Amino acid sequence: MSAVADTKAITPPDIRLRKGGTPLVCLTAYTTPIAKLVDRHCDIVLVGDSVGMVLHGMPSTLGVTLEMMVMHARAVRRGLEQALMVVDMPFGSYEEGSEQAFRNAARLMAETGCAGVKLEGGDEMAETIRFLAGRGVPVMGHVGLTPQAVNTFGGYRVQGRGEDAERIRSDALAVAEAGAFAVVLEKVPEALARRITGEIAIPTIGIGASAACDGQILVVDDMLGIFGDFRPKFVKRYAELGEIAEAAIAAYAQEVRDRSFPADEHVFGDAPRTVNSGETA
Ligand code: KIV
Repeated sequence: MSAVADTKAITPPDIRLRKGGTPLVCLTAYTTPIAKLVDRHCDIVLVGDSVGMVLHGMPSTLGVTLEMMVMHARAVRRGLEQALMVVDMPFGSYEEGSEQAFRNAARLMAETGCAGVKLEGGDEMAETIRFLAGRGVPVMGHVGLTPQAVNTFGGYRVQGRGEDAERIRSDALAVAEAGAFAVVLEKVPEALARRITGEIAIPTIGIGASAACDGQILVVDDMLGIFGDFRPKFVKRYAELGEIAEAAIAAYAQEVRDRSFPADEHVFGDAPRTVNSGETA
């Protein structure tokens, strides 16, 4: 693994230049096999702190640690050749101030080879974003519904309806002016997403924020139908891999019980013989 930028790979400045162009395609990944699948199709692969809920069964993202992010990001890095890898800064790793944020962002970059980090928050994080961006840490912002603030919001509600719109708009402007190269807009009304996208100079990446954004992101396990604990309205299921996997597991269980698996082709005899794959068994 290298902490040095790969010249073939998409960079944060490339993403910034895509403002208003062909929509940016972004997905999360947490493992090498999924990173290999998404790499060719995505501009940005986010190692999201959603990993805590999706892979570790946590009730929210609040228990995710920097060590978990490092471990998953290193796995994802091994599967990527072209997409820009961005890693989430977990809850508690950046909110104390700019220096704490720099120390932990630098660790993520050095130990995982990511080319940028994402952190949640608007106005209140602008100073930190400016500090990082000015010191070699490309930052992706995240405003609207920020899941690390679930307890403050009292749930995963739509943000920015009615008079609350101005708060989200001001957050997005602050993040853009502070030097972020892109910003995630999560679960905000379409009209607000359109307005923000038209007003700020950096790409907006929507999740539950309409096609008015400059790009889209989804949690890969949600869109593949693997994570089924809950299903937000903004998720489109492009496959039902969870159902396919469960049917396969049920078939295996049945065949073990009725002794039809392992069959002859899976069994070793006394003398070696060549099987279909060309392997000597
Ligand atoms: O953690 C995550 O996966 C995210 C995206 C859904 C934007 O923050």
